Amino acid sequence: RIVYVNGDYLPEEEAKVSVFDRGFLMADAVYEVTSVLDGKLLDFEGHAARLARSLSELDMQAPVGHEELLEIHRELVKRNDLVDGMIYLQVTRGNPGDRDFVFPDPETTRPTLVLFTQSKPGMADAPMSKTGAKIISIEDIRWGRRDIKTVQLLYPSMGKMAAKKAGCDDAWLIEDGFVTEGTSNNAYIVKGGRIITRDLSHDILHGITRAAVLRFAREAQMEVVERPFTIAEAKEADEAFTTSASAFVMPVVEIDGVTLGDGKPGPIAKRLREIYLEESR
Ligand code: PDD
Repeated sequence: RIVYVNGDYLPEEEAKVSVFDRGFLMADAVYEVTSVLDGKLLDFEGHAARLARSLSELDMQAPVGHEELLEIHRELVKRNDLVDGMIYLQVTRGNPGDRDFVFPDPETTRPTLVLFTQSKPGMADAPMSKTGAKIISIEDIRWGRRDIKTVQLLYPSMGKMAAKKAGCDDAWLIEDGFVTEGTSNNAYIVKGGRIITRDLSHDILHGITRAAVLRFAREAQMEVVERPFTIAEAKEADEAFTTSASAFVMPVVEIDGVTLGDGKPGPIAKRLREIYLEESR
């Protein structure tokens, strides 16, 4: 596999980042995941715009311009013959040459930019999209700026491990009884034909897939309500689902052992998945 590091395309064994890089020492870094279907990038513009926002919220410099970023994405797809899968991108505040809590001077310390591809053949037909996901709920103890896509993913990893241990697929995060989002996706319920999902704030990541799916839902005359919902309300919903760049629209069929509807992916989740895949390809 060919990966990109600070201007170079290298075999993955030859790619290097310093041990003093702040991404490694401080999780002082942001990332993006962009899907590729049939060799085509999905919603590059959305991911690039969110990256710019994450960087600016953290006073981090953009390592390259917009056109160059698109060129790097395309070049990696080409060099790795990527058909279905994703591109992972990470920007760190760079390597100041020592460990220090204080941000280095941006004049002397340049950001680190790393990108690599991950192949996922047939990802649009993932088996779980047919059966639906089983979810557990856990307390949301992450920091208060979840709208910035930082690489602080230890707690989400722990959530996935807790789900796995419980024989489930993923976890939803709960704050004051309300669902914030999934470990790596946005969360939705459907009640009486109405799609309900938490409104945008610092509490959740502003999903690029979320924006597209809500737009498609409204265009298809579906009713969308953006407001927080409780985990109790979710367990009584007709259906539920999540959205993310890597899993698109994923139906949820069980929450904390409670089966939703008939235990199969719901009609609205299935329809939105179809529309999303049709429209983005
Ligand atoms: N995760 N919420 C969280 C906490 C996320 O980590 C993600 C994405 C989303 C969905 O955002 P988007 O639709 O832009 O992918 C919501 C990526 C896919 C990941 O960490 O792999």
